[in-house]
Amino acid sequence: MKDSRFKVLQMKRSYLLMAFFFVAILALQNCKPEPKIIKGNNDPDSLYVGTKYVWPALYQFPQGTIPYADSMTNEGVALGRRLFYDKHLSSNGLIACASCHQLSHAFADSGKAFSAAVGGSTFRNSMALINLAWSPYFDFDGRQPSLAAQAQEAFHDNMGFSAPAAIAYLQTDSIDVKLFKRAFGRPGTITETGIYKAIQQFLMTAISHNSKFDLLRRQLVSFTPSEQNGLTIFASETGDCFHCHMSEGGASLLLTDNLFRNNGLDSALDIHDFKDAGRGAITLNPNDYGKFKDPTLRNIALTGPYMHDGRYTTLMQVINFYSDSTKDSPTEDALMTLATHNYGRGLHLASSQKTDLLNFLYTLTDTSFLDNPALSNPF
Ligand code: HEC
Ligand code: HEC
Repeated sequence: MKDSRFKVLQMKRSYLLMAFFFVAILALQNCKPEPKIIKGNNDPDSLYVGTKYVWPALYQFPQGTIPYADSMTNEGVALGRRLFYDKHLSSNGLIACASCHQLSHAFADSGKAFSAAVGGSTFRNSMALINLAWSPYFDFDGRQPSLAAQAQEAFHDNMGFSAPAAIAYLQTDSIDVKLFKRAFGRPGTITETGIYKAIQQFLMTAISHNSKFDLLRRQLVSFTPSEQNGLTIFASETGDCFHCHMSEGGASLLLTDNLFRNNGLDSALDIHDFKDAGRGAITLNPNDYGKFKDPTLRNIALTGPYMHDGRYTTLMQVINFYSDSTKDSPTEDALMTLATHNYGRGLHLASSQKTDLLNFLYTLTDTSFLDNPALSNPF
């Protein structure tokens, strides 16, 4: 009897203790300090909070400063991923960034020369989005200086975006509200620039570095004789692709030099004859007309149709173009008419060489990029 009374007393005491701890924890949480602020070294936007994003080890990628890299957080990236896939941010609720930039096509559109935008179609081919952390400017004509600026333009031009409507919508989504707080600090107001910066962070994690070609460079696989021969054509004067589609003379694995060039797609007597002036329309420099950003050839087997206007459906058509039908124009790159290119016009590759080159281009497909769950649709 005495014993059980004692037990009851003891239980009461432990309930009291538990209640005390509960209140104490609540009180502590209320005056919990803000999450740690990470200061970026080279970053104007460095007052982010959250968990710092850890960059993967990248073999033979350019070293040096990547803008905004220091202030990237896992929370910012996760938020950017949601915004990239969210159709509610378009005026008709039907189009997200991911509608024209589909992961299964390395973030290019699926087989369309031009893509359906709100109020019409795009006037250029939707670009693949790969390794853009290393790109100094964006679009075929390089008109946008940052991924955030690109996101802003894409929202407005392609998706009929209204910032107040988008912010009002995001405020109704508890996950977005939480991620905004975690990515950009308290009080976590959802802002227009926050939307663009989060997407920038997400796109900076779209890194491809595990294609068969990467594994070859890391000496983890070997090429078939045909792939090897294709690489030799690509990276020598025989095909001369490497001057534009590998940076720093082949020393880096971006598969582009990020410059603007005219690869001889169209004949023109005068710079004003180009149907699409490309870089020239931005700089108005006569030397820039008909030039376009050298695209990366990573995952190229999946990003067709090809060129700024999607004129070629297959990679063999592209190879045939370089081999046999490049055209004269005032700004055509000197590489296209070099004496090494079989007396100055076209490569005139044998059909077995074309097949080898094609087989090499296939080795640039990176299935770990396409299957990366961190890049996939979170909804
Ligand atoms: C309706 C289709 C469409 C939608 C929607 C769209 N894009 Fe694009 N995107 C394009 C096209 C077309 C281009 C090439 C534009 C040009 O060169 O003029 C492009 C280019 C880009 C580039 C430049 C890539 C490079 O290599 O320079 C980035 C980055 C990009 N888009 C991101 C986005 C983001 C972020 C969104 C959502 C906010 C978005 N896009 C929505 C069609 C689209
Ligand atoms: C003088 C620079 C230059 C050389 C040399 C060159 N390219 Fe290109 N390449 C470009 C440019 C610029 C574009 C984009 C043109 C456009 O869209 O108008 C391009 C586009 C491509 C595309 C389509 C990419 C896409 O996303 O649509 C492929 C594939 C390609 N090149 C493969 C090759 C191969 C293979 C070789 C060698 C036989 C080669 N290139 C040589 C500059 C070059």
